[in-house]
Amino acid sequence: MSHPNPQTMGQQFGRRSWAEPWKIKMVEPLRMISRDERARALAEAGYNTFLLRSDDVYIDLLTDSGTSAMSDRQWAGMLLGDEAYAGSRNFYHLEEAIQHYYGYRYVVPTHQGRGAEHLISQAAIRRGQFVPGNMYFTTTRLHQELAGGIFADVIIDEAHDPSSLHPFKGNIDLGKLEALIRREGAEKIAYVSLAGTVNMAGGQPVSMANVRELRALCDRYGVRLFLDATRMVENAFFIQEREPGYAETPIATIVKEFCGYTDGAWMSAKKDNLVNIGGWLAVNDEQLFEELRNLVVVFEGLHTYGGLAGRDLEAMAIGIGESMHDDHVRARIGQVRYLGELLTDWAIPIVQPVGGHAVFLDARRFYAHLPQAQFPAQVLAAELYLDSGIRSMERGIASAGRDPATGDHYFPKLELTRLTIPRRVYTQAHMDVVAEAVKAVYDARECTHGLRMVYEPKYLRFFQARFERL
Ligand code: F0G
Repeated sequence: MSHPNPQTMGQQFGRRSWAEPWKIKMVEPLRMISRDERARALAEAGYNTFLLRSDDVYIDLLTDSGTSAMSDRQWAGMLLGDEAYAGSRNFYHLEEAIQHYYGYRYVVPTHQGRGAEHLISQAAIRRGQFVPGNMYFTTTRLHQELAGGIFADVIIDEAHDPSSLHPFKGNIDLGKLEALIRREGAEKIAYVSLAGTVNMAGGQPVSMANVRELRALCDRYGVRLFLDATRMVENAFFIQEREPGYAETPIATIVKEFCGYTDGAWMSAKKDNLVNIGGWLAVNDEQLFEELRNLVVVFEGLHTYGGLAGRDLEAMAIGIGESMHDDHVRARIGQVRYLGELLTDWAIPIVQPVGGHAVFLDARRFYAHLPQAQFPAQVLAAELYLDSGIRSMERGIASAGRDPATGDHYFPKLELTRLTIPRRVYTQAHMDVVAEAVKAVYDARECTHGLRMVYEPKYLRFFQARFERL
């Protein structure tokens, strides 16, 4: 392939550094509790970083979801909330923003991404149908399974290899997909579930060439193609950076072209769209829209608010516009990459190339002496918190859950701990502190013990599971 090497691509930023295209107007104090207090908090949380109190956290890299700093314009928009039950003016602003930037015809707001996943899964999956996707996401797959769907992973093999430098590790393997369609028959495929970027693979992008070919394949068999647009803006940045012909194309143009190959999208606006709460669903098919608009009333709220206040819809409409600015995306991914490069320089094993929203530590190599059944990525998240008060998240065997058919653990190839960077929140100095903490935990890796799970909830166990030290 004629793609540039993603590892040296930081150089494309030129000799001069990037800087955030904003300055700070309001600050929120941070506090670090003592090591003894952290040890107590961690044990009380069952070694699960989801169960920590945020007051006990110093730098919070649990997620980039709903943790963004909103702009002064978004906060101003909050005061212009039209809190009418029906027909709020803010809904129409949101609808216009989605139509303008993403290009879909019909819009349904939801309280967040999984609300949208629930509706599309209920409306578009019949029991026993397959839902092929480029790797799974936790909530996405669960809603597909609850609707009777069978998830099938059709991502390229490179995505499961943390050291492969493939520039588009989120791509769908069209051969795998076509084999599935031929084996099962097109009527057994509910739709293709495409995510840009792929969270569980390390925030890895899908190329424009791949989605174009995917569209052609779907058309050949009459299969629908829906997009998880949660981090599509970040995906567009990688296309601009890595795919021939897009270097001069604005992010907004790339997003719109990409979405144009799909039949609709669901969105967790808590990521790209720079809000603390919100989501949406958008489709081109009128009949499907009517069904979704009807379902949203049952589960979320009327179709002009979808479980949100008018002010939230306004902040989202403004956030969509801001999220498409090239300098915003460049600084956002630049910061993630800065952290990734520090760790790479220190030979700490991470998923390469560094993705859009997070640096993923490769816990399998980090704790080479721990078997996967002892939750190495969960151990790493716990140890990092203990060392420094930094909160990260497990993305390995605990997150993968169990196969609904057999009840066995899924044993994912990737056993990762995610350092997720909120948008517009932390500074470069925070990234330095994080890198130094990871280094300290890495240096102490050999005397670290594993964990066993002592409480396991039925759904999305990683959120609430509890562990004990072995
Ligand atoms: N799709 C993707 C790719 C996601 O990353 C998420 C959430 C969702 C859908 C669901 O959206 O949280 O608004 O209901 N990811 C968060 C994370 C939770 O930390 O990665 P939601």
